[in-house]
Amino acid sequence: MTRAYVDDKRPLLEVGDVTVRFGGVTAVREATLEVHEGEVTGLIGPNGAGKTTLFNVICGLQRPTAGTVWFADGDITGKATHERARLGIARTFQRLEAFGSLSVWENVLVAAEIRGHKRPADVARHLIEVVGLEAYAQAPADTVPTGIARLLELARALALHPRLLLLDEPSSGLSAAETESFGELLRDIVAEGRAVLIVEHDMDLIMRVCDRIHVLDFGRVIATGTPAEIRADENVQRAYLGRSEEPGSDFDEPPAADLGEPLPDDFGGAWINPAHGEETRRDEA
Ligand SMILES: Nc1ncnc2c1ncn2[C@@H]1O[C@H](COP(=O)(O)OP(=O)(O)OP(=O)(O)O)[C@@H](O)[C@H]1O
Ligand SMILES: [Mg+2]
Repeated sequence: MTRAYVDDKRPLLEVGDVTVRFGGVTAVREATLEVHEGEVTGLIGPNGAGKTTLFNVICGLQRPTAGTVWFADGDITGKATHERARLGIARTFQRLEAFGSLSVWENVLVAAEIRGHKRPADVARHLIEVVGLEAYAQAPADTVPTGIARLLELARALALHPRLLLLDEPSSGLSAAETESFGELLRDIVAEGRAVLIVEHDMDLIMRVCDRIHVLDFGRVIATGTPAEIRADENVQRAYLGRSEEPGSDFDEPPAADLGEPLPDDFGGAWINPAHGEETRRDEA
């Protein structure tokens, strides 16, 4: 793949023309996006737009039907999840996946040990401090509130010392105050030179923390730009506002997508469907 880069800086991650089909459902269509070091990149779009599927392609849980994934100047399209992890890709899941019977501290320690740090306990202690989990360190992971469990997931992912951190709806279940400090934490993480790609329905958070945003709709990237550009983009407004105000008039209804309530013009607050939280699955593949 040969490409010219505007600012001469090659992105850390490049997704090129990726398509994913599940039987008759095309979840991702020729999607192209870039993620740069030192930046928070947002991936947004209505329920069922293909965000989680694209995440799975990037971390190796889903083979694309077509297209390529480049990471740190190498083609990783055919690489397994553990090889990608070794190259520096870590992710959190839309549904929380901590080891419940272990304490918060042990969860982070195990991740630091898996990464092979020389002093895993020091790394774990530092990360517990970074994300602000000191008060919960000894609590069993399955007893902590959702907001704390999200921070635990972040600490575990950071213990892998990723160059690229993929976060799937990290603010779901967080209070407004927790979401705000989570956003600040993300800025601290990228200030160290890492890259973050975040899927998120909370538009306040996205607009506040992202350097650039890609918008998916029916599996296609319909817009890419800064938060200000995305806010002003007519295609984006149509994708979110048009179809919920006039369902079926300009758009075909997506498969298994819940379009939720009409949105405010300024994209403030939480988007889409407050009852959302489960990854959409079909078993026809
Ligand atoms: N394993 C699968 N088999 C069949 N269809 C699938 C599978 N995974 C996802 N899909 C379908 O692909 C489309 C995209 O789903 P995906 O979960 O990627 O969307 P999303 O943007 O993450 O949505 P949400 O905001 O609800 O999390 C949906 O139509 C979904 O039903
Ligand atoms: Mg999803």
